Amino acid sequence: MKNLLVTGGCGFIGSNFIRHLFYETGFSGRLINVDKLTYAGNLENLSALAAAYPDRYVFVPADICDADAMAEVFDTYAVDTVCHFAAESHVDRSIVEPDAFIRTNIIGTHRLLECARARIDRIELFHHVSTDEVYGSLGAEGYFSETTAFDPSSPYAASKAASDHLVSACHRTYGLPITISNCSNNYGAYQFPEKLIPLVILNALAGKPLPVYGEGKNVRDWLYVTDHCRAIWQIMTSGKRGRTYNIGGHAEKTNIDVVTLICDLLDAMLPPPEGINSRRELITFVTDRPGHDLRYAIDFSRITKELCWEPTESFETGLKKTIEWYLDNTGWVERIRSGEYLKWIGQNYDYRLAGN
Ligand code: NAD
Ligand code: DAU
Repeated sequence: MKNLLVTGGCGFIGSNFIRHLFYETGFSGRLINVDKLTYAGNLENLSALAAAYPDRYVFVPADICDADAMAEVFDTYAVDTVCHFAAESHVDRSIVEPDAFIRTNIIGTHRLLECARARIDRIELFHHVSTDEVYGSLGAEGYFSETTAFDPSSPYAASKAASDHLVSACHRTYGLPITISNCSNNYGAYQFPEKLIPLVILNALAGKPLPVYGEGKNVRDWLYVTDHCRAIWQIMTSGKRGRTYNIGGHAEKTNIDVVTLICDLLDAMLPPPEGINSRRELITFVTDRPGHDLRYAIDFSRITKELCWEPTESFETGLKKTIEWYLDNTGWVERIRSGEYLKWIGQNYDYRLAGN
């Protein structure tokens, strides 16, 4: 892995992964980060690393759907390995405006695969980062395993399922060396505050309503983001080519339990905002998400058995670290709230936190 192409490296998981590679592993190659900088991409997430590694870290602002631009990246940087994160990632947005999801998640993945196929002799690995949402919804019992049939509910999940199939098909048809990971809900530093955990942390700090969909009984399996990054690197370095690995956090929680725990942890750290005795009073049940999957739970025994990977962070310790990160990084939050973080690309995006 001399020249590793990472797509979507300015987003939440991608930026954590790049930091993990440079600071926590023996990675010694060059890393090329291709990111279109949508609303979810933030150059600031990697500004310190870019300054520390000017010779080994390259940022290319480009769209993965642009076939010519991608071919140029593969050739200019002699790409031999790909780790593909770039995607539209937020389920609620996919329900309102699915087009970008079909374009980036399906067509974008196809474009990258075509670039890799055209240079198959020098490609060591194409790793595709995917989600447990491709499997659909569980009832009260059971787990998703790597052989569970795909049954996606949202346009986001359907677009990721399509991309997984394209990646597998390239392996079977053309012999492209691939691996795929299907992971549960991530949380941690640098997560864009539209997802449940950062949204609730920031609204609870500001004394704003904490929107809980439906009755808050839906269950997600939470994984601390650095545990996910470690799993991806282990798959890339030691995983069997052509294989899919499920990654989970062993931390199933109902949404109402997650929101309540955030309220309690914050109350223990800081006095509640004026006018309330506890942040739990801010919890507001709102209309449910259409097609809301009831429960996700992951059987990740394959990666444990084959690659000795297990999550190290418990939900309680991971959540405390996450809250502390948001408390320590109010500037980062403010630059997102104000839209200033998009100044790099001349966009004028009017971002408002949900609930405002
Ligand atoms: P994110 O939304 O935070 O980041 C996505 C990144 O991709 C952004 O930097 C964005 O600018 C970039 N991007 C979007 N469209 C692009 C395009 N056309 N060309 C180039 N770059 C583009 O997402 P995330 O939460 O970090 O998720 C990363 C990957 O992990 C996604 O593939 C997602 O499906 C998968 N995943 C996420 C989770 C989770 O809980 N967040 C869990 C499992 C899997
Ligand atoms: O399971 C992996 C998936 O996890 C990833 O593939 C997606 O990219 C990622 O966004 C995430 O999807 P979810 O829809 O599960 O995450 P989200 O944070 O949007 O919601 C988590 C749960 O909380 C879900 O059951 C919906 C609920 N929710 C969410 C929001 C934003 C609320 O009750 N209120 C909210 O305001």
